[in-house]
Amino acid sequence: MSRIDDYLAAHAARFEDDLCAFLRIPSVSADPQHAADVAAAARWVADQFAGLGFAVEVIPTKGHPLVFAQSPTVPGAPTALVYGHYDVQPADPLEKWITPPFEPTRRDGNVYARGATDDKGQMLTHVKSAEAWIAAEGRLPINLKYIIEGEEEVGSMALEEYIAGHAEKLRCDCVVISDGGQFAPGIPAITYGLRGIAYYELRLKGPNRDLHSGSFGGSVANPANALAQVLGALIDDQGRVQIPGFYDDVTPLTPREREQFSQLPFDEQRYFEQIGVAVGAGEAGYTTLERRWARPTFDINGLWSGYQGAGAKTVLPATAGAKFSFRLVPNQEPSKITAALKWRLAELCPPGIEMELIDFHNSPGVLAPLESKYVEAAARAIERAFGRPPVFTREGGSIPIVAAFHEALKADTLLLGWGQDDDNTHSPNEKFSLADFHRGIRASAQLWAELADLGGK
Ligand code: BES
Ligand code: MN
Ligand code: MN
Repeated sequence: MSRIDDYLAAHAARFEDDLCAFLRIPSVSADPQHAADVAAAARWVADQFAGLGFAVEVIPTKGHPLVFAQSPTVPGAPTALVYGHYDVQPADPLEKWITPPFEPTRRDGNVYARGATDDKGQMLTHVKSAEAWIAAEGRLPINLKYIIEGEEEVGSMALEEYIAGHAEKLRCDCVVISDGGQFAPGIPAITYGLRGIAYYELRLKGPNRDLHSGSFGGSVANPANALAQVLGALIDDQGRVQIPGFYDDVTPLTPREREQFSQLPFDEQRYFEQIGVAVGAGEAGYTTLERRWARPTFDINGLWSGYQGAGAKTVLPATAGAKFSFRLVPNQEPSKITAALKWRLAELCPPGIEMELIDFHNSPGVLAPLESKYVEAAARAIERAFGRPPVFTREGGSIPIVAAFHEALKADTLLLGWGQDDDNTHSPNEKFSLADFHRGIRASAQLWAELADLGGK
């Protein structure tokens, strides 16, 4: 690997410049106004692969385009499929950013920009590692395929459909994803579990217009009151979700796994201090890591109704609404959750209120086996680049497509996160450590060698 290491060192500054160019593209998938920017980001990614001499396609979809690339064939060698996403979350609230979200800025060893860690910076490590192999060794030791999408942050609908119809094209020995985090500074991780998600919007309608809350209040249902009541009734004071059958299919934590979680060097005080809360909260009977990684939850993601301006306005609002989601754990089935939710909402809906539920997107939780030669290969690669072996963790976030990969391709996924838990993903001042960026590239380059050593199937 010494020629590759030399190449990585010689080109480190340009890699950072390339990342900054990528981060300058405001590829916000949720916002139709950014559709052209999302397309430009797809093009940017495709150009990276073209520059490596890979066969590359920008594939149009009903939503945002997919980028598929393939390296020249190495006969007899295994094939890894790299997945990543070039779309980013909305950057608001803009006034909370120290430097603007789409003007990447290098400060104290980090690059600050929307998408820095999620997922542009992490995804790019697997592109630059391929470049280093080709430039320093003349060829890659394995076959690489890449599928990079622009809708991860909005549910991966187009990719899900594409995978179902193109299993042969995507066929691989393992899937590689860097779209998560290390366990803690200096403690790299391999993630073997992700939570799923079911995301909804609820709209409540009452009177045909906003009313004087004195003249009418108390005589007709108030949609804002109703919304508070309905949402409040979806979870109890023990943090238990109040939907029939919600916990029926939950795969419980085993005593062994609880023991393993408790052995991880989790600095709970630092965790809470960093986010500015005095005490934790959640489902009774579980530790913080258990709550984050292995228990289902209910969270309101947005809430609106009535008067939001300065001062007071005595109004009985005509409408109210909320966006909310459940994080799901392995074996909970999103469609069953939706059906049970509808039943529960009908039960809770007060007279005089019309309710409409919009089902945005959902995906199940996943658990990947740890007893795998690919996991062992990845652990060796990470140890080489990060100077210590990874711990094995689960994550609370969701990567909707992982379940689909498993189903359609029957391939295991390696979740190798290079981020940190203070990277501010989805928050203002998102960042990615440049040291982690370069270590990620090195681990990725090493991974190609380790996978090659395993030989083909
Ligand atoms: N990279 C994250 C998922 C993630 C977060 C993995 C933390 C591991 C640790 C991903 O981009 C993401 O934000 N996913 C969404 C999915 C949703 C919009 C369908 C999520 O988890 O909210
Ligand atoms: Mn991501
Ligand atoms: Mn994300």
